[in-house]
Amino acid sequence: MVFRNAIQGLWSGKGRGWYPTIADFEYQETLEFTDTGRPFLTYRQTTHASDGSPLHTEAGYIRFLSDYRLEFVVAQPTGISEVLTGSVEATEDGYRASLQAHQLARTETSKLVDSTSRRFVLRGESLSVEFWMAAMGQPMQPHLSSELRRDV
Ligand code: HEM
Repeated sequence: MVFRNAIQGLWSGKGRGWYPTIADFEYQETLEFTDTGRPFLTYRQTTHASDGSPLHTEAGYIRFLSDYRLEFVVAQPTGISEVLTGSVEATEDGYRASLQAHQLARTETSKLVDSTSRRFVLRGESLSVEFWMAAMGQPMQPHLSSELRRDV
């Protein structure tokens, strides 16, 4: 099964976040990758704090140029849009998709984010998600890491 088929469906689990300019935090995350019958998947993410209050959310599309080359467009209500390009590698027990920002767009009032990178590591019914950013004048470094399981 190729990555594009293996990642489809609903995933949920816990994550934690940090950055030099903010206090550490934890969150509950749900991701959904949905087949469209065309060469892209729709992507929807929601996150919540442990008291149930909503945190970050985002939505977009993963475009497959081939089974191993992809593009990701994602829009955020914080006024930031990321356009990333990347590749998928097969691993011993799944896949690793690594994406780098190709372009970022920000509204006039959004926080200052200069670059981002994302990684999805799929192992059977487990999905690890990592997000790095260069933001607020800081060099590229991790902001988020989560461990999800497939929801049945
Ligand atoms: C799982 C998704 C995410 C969660 C749960 C999350 C959570 C948070 C929290 C709790 C803060 C600190 C309080 C605040 O300023 O709101 C924060 C700050 C921030 N986040 Fe995220 N975030 C997520 C994704 C992102 C993404 C995708 C970006 C960029 C594209 C981003 C960029 C930032 C920036 C620039 C700050 C401000 C740091 C500062 O004010 O110094 N975050 N995030």
